[in-house]
Amino acid sequence: MDVFNCDLMHSHVLIEVFTTEIAVHKIDIALAQLDTPFLYVDKPQFLRNIRRMKEKIEGHKVELRTHFKTLKSLEGAPYLYQDKASPITVSTLKEAEALAEDGYKNLTYAVGIAPQKLPRVKSLISKGTNLSILLDSMSQAAAVSSFCKDNNCDIPVWIEIDCDNHRAGIKPESSDLLEVANILYKGDVTIRGVLTHAGGSYACSTPDQLLKAANEEKNSVIFAASRLKDAGIPCPYTSIGSTPTALSYADLTGITEVRAGVFPFFDLVMAGIGVCEISEIALSVVTTVIGYNAEKNWLLIDAGWMALSRDRGTSSQQRDCGYGLVCDFDGHVIDSLYVDGANQEHGIIVSTDGYDMSSIKVGTKLRILPNHACATAGMHLNYQVIDKDSDSHEVWNRILGW
Ligand SMILES: Cc1ncc(COP(=O)(O)O)c(C=O)c1O
Repeated sequence: MDVFNCDLMHSHVLIEVFTTEIAVHKIDIALAQLDTPFLYVDKPQFLRNIRRMKEKIEGHKVELRTHFKTLKSLEGAPYLYQDKASPITVSTLKEAEALAEDGYKNLTYAVGIAPQKLPRVKSLISKGTNLSILLDSMSQAAAVSSFCKDNNCDIPVWIEIDCDNHRAGIKPESSDLLEVANILYKGDVTIRGVLTHAGGSYACSTPDQLLKAANEEKNSVIFAASRLKDAGIPCPYTSIGSTPTALSYADLTGITEVRAGVFPFFDLVMAGIGVCEISEIALSVVTTVIGYNAEKNWLLIDAGWMALSRDRGTSSQQRDCGYGLVCDFDGHVIDSLYVDGANQEHGIIVSTDGYDMSSIKVGTKLRILPNHACATAGMHLNYQVIDKDSDSHEVWNRILGW
């Protein structure tokens, strides 16, 4: 139709059709205006993932102290936490300070404490935040004990247990456990309990391995707590968790709380472990095709490691996904494509089966599923949160720094 020659009535009809189109495709118009790369959150999937974990853990009648380390967003927090008193785990004091400022009251900082950070911890506690910290050595216990004495305060402490030789913590059978606990107890520092994280579960790939990791995680803190109680040292709480084990526990008798963090988004590592489907990954990086290398049959995209991260968590799994799997803009996986190379601002997409890359034109938008959601999210300032069901688009900012 020649728009410039139509009569008044026709132009009126045309405007009506046009405005209806805008209303129907509000999200598409909003997304089209965003420069790539950006983080895309599929909100309905994000909510389904949260519901799944809540039902699993609450079904065991145990509290879920969801880890904030993955989401790190105050706008997103109300979807993870029912109210401001809900139990929360944080990985930085920056997260704790932001949450406390927003009224959240019940926080565990679950990274071993560096003594010079104790004044920030004390400051949060003195403003009414129920904040506890983590340690696994006599020197940390002594530092906390003398800081509390010098400052006339109490900082509740979790003793970290090593359940799988993965990273940190005291072996549950070690004599160090009682020595650390005694330093705290005699120093009048409140021992909240024993805490472990089965980071080794990231190497699992079968339900049997997952169940074994989940049982070892659980049994390690139950044993550690019983040793403290036998020695006359109070140990009221037992805290365990990682996303793979949290979705695999058969029984949680003896456990008071579970921590998990990556489950709201899931990622390719979790899919490789077998605790989610690729279709359940709620986070992706939207990118634009910026080139085609005919000689190599490569596509170049504007998402390099600054947008995807350098995480190669799937490299040791049965399916190595490179720096991420490729989806079309609607989120459908294009089977044989993956990001094989990542420079700072360039990604290189290759195919495992000779897919004709020239069919994906420069300017096309694609979505890349991340290996590790925490690492990929950590490269961005905010999330574009999309709910296609209700045609809504929100921007959630991320908390940066330490
Ligand atoms: C101490 C601690 N607890 C819980 C978690 C949550 O594990 P996931 O990210 O597998 O959910 C982590 C993750 O790094 C952690 O370090």
